Amino acid sequence: MASLVDRYLSHITTACTADRSGAVADYIPELAQVDPEGYGLSLCMHDGQIYSRGDSTVEFTIQSISKPLSYAMALNRLGYVRVDEKIGVEPSGEAFNEISVDDRMRPKNPMINAGAIQTVSLLLPPVRDVSAQTVGHVFDELVTFYSACAGRRLALDSAVYGSEASTGSRNRAIAYMLDSFGVMDTDPEAALDLYYRQCSLRVTTDDLAVIGATLANGGANPRTGRQVIAQEVAQRVLSVMTTCGMYDGAGDWVTSVGLPAKSGVGGGILATLPGQLGIGIYSPRLDRHGNSVRGIDTCRHLSTDLGLHMF
Ligand code: DON
Repeated sequence: MASLVDRYLSHITTACTADRSGAVADYIPELAQVDPEGYGLSLCMHDGQIYSRGDSTVEFTIQSISKPLSYAMALNRLGYVRVDEKIGVEPSGEAFNEISVDDRMRPKNPMINAGAIQTVSLLLPPVRDVSAQTVGHVFDELVTFYSACAGRRLALDSAVYGSEASTGSRNRAIAYMLDSFGVMDTDPEAALDLYYRQCSLRVTTDDLAVIGATLANGGANPRTGRQVIAQEVAQRVLSVMTTCGMYDGAGDWVTSVGLPAKSGVGGGILATLPGQLGIGIYSPRLDRHGNSVRGIDTCRHLSTDLGLHMF
């Protein structure tokens, strides 16, 4: 059995690494420093077994794949009612960094930047002046939660964090817009700092596959056996990933791949087949939506070849 899976993963790796289209993200200078040829693929089964190929232990920054995790953390802590008051669950059909809200002034969903910045704001105390020490403390809690989902301790990439923070005008505009609309109850600078830090955590495709398997497994990490996300929260997170995880490419994604997924501009994609497995892919050249070109191709192959489409 193992050798059959290994042979299939070798085949798919060869098929998907021929494509050299797309470009690495360079709007955050530090992200442009990666090897554009990098490619890693990992699957984590419901029993915790991991199968990987290529650069599966190379670390890259999690970027927007952090968004479903912080959303899960906020839902775990605060419950649906308080989170839904502040963040919608409708696909935006817009780019990840679009400056937009719904008719209740809420970000349309937690997968776009506006929704993600609003999500982390809910983890901070509702005061106007949040100290750096408090942000550091909440970040430690966030790292502990992400690490429990991944089954190993994750660490910050300080260079990417510094680069994010110094080039984040668009995100700053989004945070202050939410503040001016009265939806953000905390210090916008603290929310931004926490958001930049979460995006700068380093992961491997093995980590993404385990996180995906944790979501697929009703919130229980299949390698550690720990229930890290409440079951109904995992269900909600996967639902929102299905409709909003791939931004303005979400409709095409659901139609052709049919799996809940989330991409990041670091080149990662996390996908899951509920009840079955988690998938982690890394390849840093991106399409115009900010999604990994080879990552999408790999998911299309996996979905078609293995009949993973959920519908
Ligand atoms: O907010 C940003 O610009 C980044 N730190 C994260 C964006 C991202 O990963 C978008 N995803 N494809």
